[in-house]
Amino acid sequence: MSDQLRPRASLRTAVVWEVLKDALDRLVEATGRDALDVLDTGGGTGNFAVPVARLGHRVTVVDPSPNALFALERRADEAGVADRVRGVQGDIHGLFEVVDRAGYDAVLCHGVLEYVDDPAEGVRNAVDALRPVGALSLLGAGLGGAVLARALAGHFAEARQALTDPAGRWGDGDPVPRRFTADQLTGLVEAAGLQVGAIHGVRVFGDLVPGVLVDTEPGALEELLKLEAAVAELPAFHSVATQLHVLGEKRA
Ligand SMILES: C[S@@+](CC[C@H](N)C(=O)[O-])C[C@H]1O[C@@H](n2cnc3c(N)ncnc32)[C@H](O)[C@@H]1O
Repeated sequence: MSDQLRPRASLRTAVVWEVLKDALDRLVEATGRDALDVLDTGGGTGNFAVPVARLGHRVTVVDPSPNALFALERRADEAGVADRVRGVQGDIHGLFEVVDRAGYDAVLCHGVLEYVDDPAEGVRNAVDALRPVGALSLLGAGLGGAVLARALAGHFAEARQALTDPAGRWGDGDPVPRRFTADQLTGLVEAAGLQVGAIHGVRVFGDLVPGVLVDTEPGALEELLKLEAAVAELPAFHSVATQLHVLGEKRA
């Protein structure tokens, strides 16, 4: 079952999915082709690749993890889109050893920049994979969301540490190697030559509210999803989002 069909998981993906789906629809219109070529760098087990393939597009997933690629293959098979999903073992830093330069209408880079050695090079490679008209969907861990989450959990020193650490980490036990502000992410996209089409804050409240409130109150999940959608575009909430999504656009 895709994330879009799992109610609780949709809290993680709904905002990004709506922005991505609109961007793909616009590209279909702009290119005059119903089936786009989409590259998902660090696409993992296919949280986005499989739903994108279900729209009729051809998706290539590049990921260094053989286990993730194996799970991707099984998931694509179960969703009936195995013929439109191709998994390739590779790294965003050596992207053109495994895929063509300028070969894709859209490139996804979701939850990957946090882990790579050189985020600027990662974004440049993602952009260089685009055709003359294309879109980059970039999702990265937000700094402010981590500060807020640590503080609300009572870890005040860690919250302050994340705020001052150059990589936005709250300590040695932090599993995330790097976090970003909205300015940093848009700066990377612009430096790679794209125009910023939109910025969205993702999971502003979803990770902070106790799960029991969402799972037991009738209609609460639907209301929370509506609230997340309403605040996602408001700059005031970008600084406290768990993740930040930037849509980069390349126009001829
Ligand atoms: C948090 S998961 C995100 C997976 C997927 N993009 C999603 O949104 O569900 C991070 C993924 O990045 C991959 N990854 C880590 N380092 C990478 C690199 N240097 N180049 C490409 N992918 C990488 C991991 O194997 C993993 O599948």
